[in-house]
Amino acid sequence: DWTSASFVEMAIAKIKEQVGDKKVLCALSGGVDSSVAAVLVHRAIGNNLTCMFVDHGLLRKDEAEQVMEMFAGEFQMNVVKIDARERFLNRLAGVSDPERKRKIIGEEFIRVFEEESKSLGHFDFLAQGTLYTDIIESGTATAATIKSHHNVGGLPEDMQFQLTEPLKELFKDEVRAAGSEMGIKDEIVWRQPFPGPGLAIRIIGDVTAEKLEILRDADWVVRDEIKRSGLDREIWQYFAVLPDIKSVGVMGDERTYAYTIGIRAVTSRDGMTADWARIPYDVLERLSTRLVNEVGDINRVVLDITSKPPATIEWE
Ligand code: XMP
Repeated sequence: DWTSASFVEMAIAKIKEQVGDKKVLCALSGGVDSSVAAVLVHRAIGNNLTCMFVDHGLLRKDEAEQVMEMFAGEFQMNVVKIDARERFLNRLAGVSDPERKRKIIGEEFIRVFEEESKSLGHFDFLAQGTLYTDIIESGTATAATIKSHHNVGGLPEDMQFQLTEPLKELFKDEVRAAGSEMGIKDEIVWRQPFPGPGLAIRIIGDVTAEKLEILRDADWVVRDEIKRSGLDREIWQYFAVLPDIKSVGVMGDERTYAYTIGIRAVTSRDGMTADWARIPYDVLERLSTRLVNEVGDINRVVLDITSKPPATIEWE
């Protein structure tokens, strides 16, 4: 039977055996999966691991700084941060189709990764935080692909990397246990899943710098309030979405015409199915008040009460 301690020990031994003294590159996103994978590989081979952290501008508030502090600072890992915010915003300009957004982000990610990795030297291996569920959901094991998930999956064929995927037999809860076992902090280990295409797939319609700023602020309020309410471990994912809707409101004597924020919160074991989270009314009340007061250009807050299926967790 599975224990995190024996998993960590075995995984490190396997990585050592597979990689030897070769160099490994890892795309670190700051999410649970790539973080645990990177720390495992770092435990196994130390500075023969280089991590690349691409800031595509679709991240949550303060995320880039936190990732650098944690991994380059505390863990003393070799992490290179790439600022690609402009590039992604330019490529996404005017695009509203969800699958096109995903495709553009995936492609641009690979392009950045390819260009930047060249300047970092030669690598034989690529480390990825692929989980068991990623393999199933990306359509390898099921008939239909529901959404084209973007991890660093579709690498160009002329990039001759071998893969090391130490988590590919694990479920999320096992990854978390392994992370804690290695001393990774709760704020990373218990971080909720965050999609590769980031905030772009939580903005319905085209992505602009202005909408990103609204959504980033709203997302921060949702995370902060759920955490303060002590619900952050019960709820699998909790975030804000920005539908492409403006509606009329009133503030003082003034008519307003501003955006709507949707609250999405679900419980789940692995993200494959999900139930909408029964957030207590008093928490919802605080959320509503804070969102309107603390986020610019918002005058209405709605709650998503659909499960998966028939909805998906993300709105795109
Ligand atoms: P859906 O929206 O399909 O999401 O119900 C299921 C889980 O997957 C996450 N998700 C992604 N993760 N790249 C990722 O790494 C993606 O493109 C992506 N799309 C969705 C979603 O947040 C949820 O946890």
